[in-house]
Amino acid sequence: MRISLNDRRLEIYREFLRGVRVEDVTEKYGISRVSVWKFSKKLEELGYGIERGKKGYRISKKPDPSPLDMAISARQIPGIDEFYYFSEIDSTNRFAKENERCAVFAERQTEGRGRVGRRWDSDKGGIYFSISLNLNIPVTEIPKITLIGGLAVCRTLEGYSARIKWPNDVLINGKKVSGILSEFVGEELSSRIIMGIGINVKNRIPGYLKDSALSLAEIDPDMQITDVFEELCRNLGTYLRMFPEGWNEILEEWKKRTDTIGKEVEISAGNQKFSGRAVDIDRDGGLLIESDGGIVKVISGECFYTNY
Ligand code: BTN
Repeated sequence: MRISLNDRRLEIYREFLRGVRVEDVTEKYGISRVSVWKFSKKLEELGYGIERGKKGYRISKKPDPSPLDMAISARQIPGIDEFYYFSEIDSTNRFAKENERCAVFAERQTEGRGRVGRRWDSDKGGIYFSISLNLNIPVTEIPKITLIGGLAVCRTLEGYSARIKWPNDVLINGKKVSGILSEFVGEELSSRIIMGIGINVKNRIPGYLKDSALSLAEIDPDMQITDVFEELCRNLGTYLRMFPEGWNEILEEWKKRTDTIGKEVEISAGNQKFSGRAVDIDRDGGLLIESDGGIVKVISGECFYTNY
């Protein structure tokens, strides 16, 4: 399903949420009673409950995830014109790579991609979300955008003591609840960034990951995908609007929310390995590691906590 973010149906949906007389909708939006009725039927097909009374229409029940609420939430992200909602897709990052200025959500992915060529288990119940941003920034700036993604997720889950493991894993009680895969498309002068975010909300964690990964529903069984998604969009909007002028402020906030600094780490970057104590993040978002050989800066890689 494709929803343009300035589609009037989103406004009519909002009226339905509050409860509205049919004639008020027909007058305000210049549409027929039949169109209003057809739209209410469409909502029912999507899993919404509609009360049709003397006074008009009112939404009495919403599905979770709720596609229309999510489209409204996606408006908070700058530079996005379209919202795509899939019940199933191979990978939202793959789709976002082929489409500009869009946000893509899927209920499940059949070929979810993780970092360093791994797969990302994507059963129903999680958030599988990608945005395609026309930022036109050099490749060297990608690590910053990736850090923004991790920060936005971490802030979304701050009520659950979430922490960021450099560069952008979000952990709760030491277990991973979210990962981010950023990809660069095009050339330096006409580039796009794809930011793909996976969050375990109420999806089943496969047995082999039980010791290292967590679904939010294990902490809060009432967790709603739509609510987490709304907060995520709000936070992505806040930090993307601050970028690039407010980068220093973003970085300071990121540092407050990481648990990597001060830890003994091993970083695997391609076929290179670095180990030592993580002492800081520099202005580019690179991790500074101190060892007997001095301080080295690592721009990207997989981070493992050693004596942990
Ligand atoms: C990681 O390995 O930590 C990154 C995982 C990123 C998963 C998300 S889910 C939405 C988007 N689509 C994909 O295929 N991958 C990313």
